[in-house]
Order: sequence, then structure tokens, then C-alpha cells
Amino acid sequence: MHDNPDAAGRTVREVAEVAGILWDRGWAESNAGNITADVTGEGIGTPAASAKERVLPFPRPYGMLAGRSYLVTGTGRRMRDVARDPLAHATFLRIDDDGAGCVLFLPDGAAPTLAPTSELASHLAIHEALRARGTSERVVLHAHATELVALTHHAAFQDEATLNAMLWGMHPEAVIFLPAGVGLVPYALTGSERLATATVAAMQLHDVVLWEKHGVVAIGATPHAALDRIDIVAKSARIWFLCAGAGFEPAGLSQAQIAELRAAFPGRG
Ligand code: 13P
Ligand code: ZN
Repeated sequence: MHDNPDAAGRTVREVAEVAGILWDRGWAESNAGNITADVTGEGIGTPAASAKERVLPFPRPYGMLAGRSYLVTGTGRRMRDVARDPLAHATFLRIDDDGAGCVLFLPDGAAPTLAPTSELASHLAIHEALRARGTSERVVLHAHATELVALTHHAAFQDEATLNAMLWGMHPEAVIFLPAGVGLVPYALTGSERLATATVAAMQLHDVVLWEKHGVVAIGATPHAALDRIDIVAKSARIWFLCAGAGFEPAGLSQAQIAELRAAFPGRG
């Protein structure tokens, strides 16, 4: 049943590990956060027990995703529970051949009422953009990284250029691993198509996108790779807040130091 059981097991295990880290970081209060991973070809999402299938029509078609399979955390589920027992709090879904809906395949331990994350519109729209781009990125991760949400409440950081200049200035890793910086999506209703559309537009240029007054979304080749990107941005933000909280303006890396990093580590993002 599993075409590639090693890969399937690894994806589930990594989703669980990352869910646990989100909880430990305080970035996943209550049911906050969601993870989706493209598992097409891993053989999961092909059900053994058809009694547990459910059909879910989409509000709009995702033609580029036709026939693909995804591991999706459930709505209302705690990341700390996903960490403990991932297959009781997630579902597999296979997109129809016309992309107009999907079939949910509930793993054995999952409740029959389990439904995909309420942010499915953003996740699927991002996966669609990733397919269009032909990249190896196959994971979308959303979390409520506290320090990043706090940044989006600052009037000065509504401007992406100012925001990224600050983030790069706080930490060499941000220059190396996020050479394009982060995108900022103005506040939009959680779970909405408007949020999804704005996020996909921002993802054309960035691997990490902040959702104003809400959270952060990142893409990655694996769940850990997506987490790494959020972690690096959050580290920069924390350094800035620590300096600000201690009552001094951080010096930041100079333009020359940033340019030197860019030249020394081209294309690492
Ligand atoms: P779900 O529980 O539906 O995944 O929602 C959590 C969340 O963070 C919404 O933005
Ligand atoms: Zn959220």
C-alpha cells in the first residue's frame, strides 16, 4: 500500500517533530499552527479502509494539484497532540483529477469528524504556486511565532524594505539564508481566500511571509527546513526586541558587512 514507506514514515515523523517544536517555542497556543506536506508518490493517501473516506469539494479548483496527495493537520487540533500522535490529528487528502475537490483518507487513529486545517485555502494555493515554479519545496508551515507577530504591530515595519533591513541587520544568518527577506501580508481574515491570494503573491518573492497581527508562513523542502526559516527570522526579531527592551538602539550589521555576507554566501536561501 505504501509505495515508499521510508519516505512516508519520515514525513509523518518530521511533521510530528516540528509540531512539538512549535509547541515548545510557544508558537502554537491551543490549536494554533498548521502543516501540510506533499506526499505524492509516497503511497500514503491511498486508503486501506475506504469506509473512512470523505469527499470534500473546494470553493475553487486547484488544477495544478490534480491527482496529488497531501498530509494535512486537522483543524482545531493542538500541535502538542500532533507531536504525540500525528496520525490521530492529521488527515491525508488526494486531490481529484480535475482539482475541484479532494477525498480525505483518515488514518486509523483519527476521529471520523476530523477536517483539514481552516487555512487550507492558503496551503493549497501555495502548493499550487510551488508546483508552477517546479521547485523541490513541498511543505507549508504556519505558526504564531510570537516575536514575529509582535513585529507586525510596529508602524515602522509595515514597510517591507524597512522590515527586511532590520532583520538582516540583526543577524548574519538572516542575510545568508533569507537573501530575499520576508514578505508582509496586510491583515486579512484567517482562513480567507483573500489571505491565500495575498500570501501566494508574497511567496513569489519570499520563502517566509508574515501575516500582519496573526503569524508567519514558510515553505521548505521538509518540515524542518520550513521551521529553520521561521527560526532564523524569529532570532533576528528576538535580538531586536532584546536590544529595544534593554533601552538601546541596536547598531546592526553595516551595509558593507551585509554586502560581504551576500558575496561570500551567494544563493544559499
Ligand atoms: P486550524 O486549527 O484550523 O489549523 O487553525 C489554526 C490557525 O492557526 C489558524 O490561522
Ligand atoms: Zn493562525
